[in-house]
Amino acid sequence: MPRLVVNGKTHDVDADPNTPLLWVLREQIGLTGTKYGCGIAQCGACTVHVDGTAVRSCSLPVSEAEGKQITTIEGLAQNGVLHPVQKAWLEHDVPQCGYCQTGMIMAVAALLTEKPKPTDADIDSTITNICRCGTFQQVRAAIHAATDA
Ligand code: FES
Ligand code: FES
Repeated sequence: MPRLVVNGKTHDVDADPNTPLLWVLREQIGLTGTKYGCGIAQCGACTVHVDGTAVRSCSLPVSEAEGKQITTIEGLAQNGVLHPVQKAWLEHDVPQCGYCQTGMIMAVAALLTEKPKPTDADIDSTITNICRCGTFQQVRAAIHAATDA
């Protein structure tokens, strides 16, 4: 029975070790902020942090997440204070339909931990999440705003 630490809480889940982390998060732990898009690690809608690194949870067997710190969009704000990326997203009205945005925000938050002042080239090479609403210009502007905050 895999034991997961998600947003600081421990969960013993009844899942086959090969089950993708995404489905355990959504269906067993009830954290539905993380979205299913493609299921083949292409779109980024399912992005979470595993030990601080952005990971596409649709393609990570739950067994590989055991013993690691998993953070989902529900755990990004701390003590009721939004993460700077979340604040910038609100200020720049980034989301349109919103479906891709939790994964986008998680990917950006991990990028800023690694590179606090990313260039446009850094953003383009790292934030490969797909947004069917085409919010890419707003995403880039909001990332720069978050780094200036
Ligand atoms: S649902 Fe995981 S990358 Fe698309
Ligand atoms: S905001 Fe609609 S898919 Fe990105």
